Amino acid sequence: MPNQSNQKIAPPVPITDLDLDQNAGVPLYRQLYEGLRRSILVGELSPGVRLPSTRALAADLSIGRNTVVNAYEQLLAEGYLEGRTGSGTYVAAELPDHLLRVRSDQRKSAKSRKAGRGLSSRGHLLAGTTVSEPHDFAIPRAFRAGLPAMEIFPFKTWSRLWNRRWRSPSLDLLGYGDPAGYRPLREIIASYLGAVRGVRCEADQVIMIAGSQQALDIVTRVLLNEGDVVWVEDPGYPGARGAFQGAGAEVAPVPVDSQGLDIATGIARAPNARLAYVTPSHQYPLGITMTLSRRLELLDWAARNRSWVLEDDYDSEYRYAGLPIAALQGLDEEDSVIYVGSFSKTLFPSLRIGYMVVPQGLVDTFVAARELIDRGSPSLEQAVLADFMVEGHFERHIRRTRSLYAERQEALVESAERDLRGLMEVRPSSSGMDLIGRLAKGVDDRLAQRLAAQHDVEATPLSTYYFEPPEQGGLLLGFTGVDEAQIAAGTRRLAEALSSLD
Ligand SMILES: Cc1ncc(COP(=O)(O)O)c(C=O)c1O
Repeated sequence: MPNQSNQKIAPPVPITDLDLDQNAGVPLYRQLYEGLRRSILVGELSPGVRLPSTRALAADLSIGRNTVVNAYEQLLAEGYLEGRTGSGTYVAAELPDHLLRVRSDQRKSAKSRKAGRGLSSRGHLLAGTTVSEPHDFAIPRAFRAGLPAMEIFPFKTWSRLWNRRWRSPSLDLLGYGDPAGYRPLREIIASYLGAVRGVRCEADQVIMIAGSQQALDIVTRVLLNEGDVVWVEDPGYPGARGAFQGAGAEVAPVPVDSQGLDIATGIARAPNARLAYVTPSHQYPLGITMTLSRRLELLDWAARNRSWVLEDDYDSEYRYAGLPIAALQGLDEEDSVIYVGSFSKTLFPSLRIGYMVVPQGLVDTFVAARELIDRGSPSLEQAVLADFMVEGHFERHIRRTRSLYAERQEALVESAERDLRGLMEVRPSSSGMDLIGRLAKGVDDRLAQRLAAQHDVEATPLSTYYFEPPEQGGLLLGFTGVDEAQIAAGTRRLAEALSSLD
């Protein structure tokens, strides 16, 4: 029927930007409905505009006409569209109030997401605390720090153990597990820590976590109030500093000297700190071992002040000469120490399995916190890891990687002597997974990093770990995750990069 009114009919608006996917598993009419609805709600299709006819839109989008009819009918039924006899289908001229509110809220929230509005104060703190550099997620190159040698991981053994568990998993592994972790794994870790690290604990004090980063998070929730002061090592681990800052704690940098954390300066600066974060076996990133007298001083301060000590024992398996350094936890008589370890260095980081050993009096609280956060770590992975340890594969892998890393360190020191003489000083170390390449005083290590990156070399500037730029900068050179050929090529490229510094 021809249009009877004198009003001119507006041309239909073109419908663009609709991503319909035949393989999405969602019916096309539903995708079309959702797309049009969203466009109306966010104001891309304004009230009163005319939509193309079902036939035209079907042709434009290369879909069946019925698909368009179904989508239009649904939108008509819900009041988003209205049909006008003889002139087609329109976006409802007067959208119901609650829809308009949704629309304006969506506009606002799109903006506020940009501006960070609507965040809690903790959200703001977290948003302002970035720890990882973009390269952390890319394929590693020489000299990514702290990276294990993945290529010698016993994947065959791991997959055999994994298959064995998956073929007929016991029912307890498929339900909700103990948030403290899989008991047999906690038992083997308790005996491993007792024998190898001098940690004194019962299995029930061992709480499995998703990597040591989660220990930092739980500790901030359970032991710290906003504004509490925390000692952190300077230089120190950005992951720890960030976790404390992100929780609203006040971070007090405490310098590290040749004996480890300078306790006297810590006490002078922040005598009542509630917690001290330390890496006593192998200070990160300087590699210093905290002396016995400093350890006793730290424990004495913590006991007198009723403060906590968080011991991060992240890579102590890698000691190449002399006896292993026992953990600080083993010296603690006052239940002040929370000990944290991880499989990120000994196995691989994406496993996301670590453990903490907490004083008996904290066990229930930590387990309750873990249950509320995410109910606990996946049971089957823990069972596979327990088998891996019980059957001796873990110890074997540590022995293999330890001797490989000793060789790789030697290779780095030798090729640095050959290629980097006069540009950077690289001294060997009896432990750890990376070495510090010292630059001459006054050389900006962040500039050195950028130049290195242009030559396809990855190296973290030492100043990243400091609160104030150090007098002498350097680059942290990981030697464990790349082979000797990559190390040799890496020092050559690094030399080219650094020679343009003059
Ligand atoms: C000082 C320190 N602690 C802990 C870790 C390991 O963290 P996670 O167990 O969360 O992988 C690292 C890794 O780089 C580290 O450098």
